[in-house]
Amino acid sequence: MSVRRRLVIGNWKMNGSKAENEQLLSDLVKLQNAAAANQAAELAVCAPFPYLQQVADILKDSAISWGGQDVSEHAKGAYTGEVSVAMLAEFGCAWAIVGHSERRAYHGEGSDVVARKAAAAIAGGITPVVCVGETQAEREAGKTLQVISSQLEPVLALGADAVTKMVLAYEPVWAIGTGLTASPEQAQEVHAHIRSLLVQADAPEQRVLYGGSVKAANAASLFAKEDIDGALVGGASLVATDFQGIANA
Ligand code: 13P
Repeated sequence: MSVRRRLVIGNWKMNGSKAENEQLLSDLVKLQNAAAANQAAELAVCAPFPYLQQVADILKDSAISWGGQDVSEHAKGAYTGEVSVAMLAEFGCAWAIVGHSERRAYHGEGSDVVARKAAAAIAGGITPVVCVGETQAEREAGKTLQVISSQLEPVLALGADAVTKMVLAYEPVWAIGTGLTASPEQAQEVHAHIRSLLVQADAPEQRVLYGGSVKAANAASLFAKEDIDGALVGGASLVATDFQGIANA
């Protein structure tokens, strides 16, 4: 039996406002306090950069941690619009999502850049949540496992020391924001593949989250699978009761 602690991370994406965040986070803290006794899952939220101070202030005495949705591979300098690991660390961030499919698709991030971002995060004491996932066309072409392997290759090549400081997330692109969740069996097939790559990388106990239309109603059946260690949640993380419902699952 694995000892991996369940982890549920909310990825707010480009959503929220000061007023909405205040409401969502204070509701979450209340629900979390009420649930604390019987809930073993670790909870985190990844907010847009301008709100990190607000998130840090509201969550500072809670068991919920926070992170950014991306981070630069560079330490400082002429990189307009980017945010460094040291900057995130100043806000008390525990996490940085790297390689989300929306960054890969809209910002041209390849797996080598993703690996360098993960390495930078680790060097600065922040845990990268490294996302991988195939498109619908890749799945239909029978290339899912091949795509996952190639996306993970430069990341796992960072070596066991680095990989044991990461969380991985499998997010099939066709399941993100579409209401189409991978079935627990489809997800487990890919998670088992990722687990085998982690075993080869000498980091067998790293947590692998599933993401893509996770809701309170489907979370339990996903979490029942051996290699699914939690969830990376988009839409449902914006509603406190939905997000807490996933954590309770
Ligand atoms: P949804 O939960 O909205 O499908 O988003 C998943 C995701 O991309 C989390 O990073």
